[in-house]
Amino acid sequence: MMRQVKEEVVSLKDSPLYGYRVESGNSPVIGEGDHDSKVMFIGEAPGKNEAASGRPFCGAAGKILDELLESVHIPRSDVYITNIVKDRPPQNRDPLPEEIEIYGPFLDRQIDILKPKVIATLGRYSMVYIMKKFELETEIEPIGRAHGKTYTAKTSFGSVTIVPLYHPAAAIYTASLKDTLKEDFKVLKTFV
Ligand code: URA
Repeated sequence: MMRQVKEEVVSLKDSPLYGYRVESGNSPVIGEGDHDSKVMFIGEAPGKNEAASGRPFCGAAGKILDELLESVHIPRSDVYITNIVKDRPPQNRDPLPEEIEIYGPFLDRQIDILKPKVIATLGRYSMVYIMKKFELETEIEPIGRAHGKTYTAKTSFGSVTIVPLYHPAAAIYTASLKDTLKEDFKVLKTFV
């Protein structure tokens, strides 16, 4: 159950990010949305706003994600949004391999609970994690080539379509990527 996942992450003292979480008064970010959704978005790790509120994608990157969802008329409440790493890395640095290793199994359990038909990965960390998990490692390409493509994975609960996407925060720094993201989001629309 999702509540069990949450309780275990909340008390994950073995995490290298646990001390930073406590000293900064942050919360872990488990995920948010419709547990019956066919569509699951997987980002990287909580940023400042997310760790302060316990909600995924509620800061600047979240505003862009909201705009992208609106552009294809998918209500945010109809999808499930989470991250690989559930605690904020200091200074929003990239997640370390040992952080992905400790939080990855919780994401795996969330995927098993949701049984999504579509997994949209946001950014290269979640793309690499998900493609490795579903034995598509040999098909991994740079995000600049992989974005907007679809990959089919066979799972214990049926086939899942994986759609790698740029991270919405990339559009903050490179404005033209927002149009690319909007184009790629149209792929998702065909599944909902
Ligand atoms: N970036 C992410 O990868 N995840 C969030 O929840 C917020 C920003």
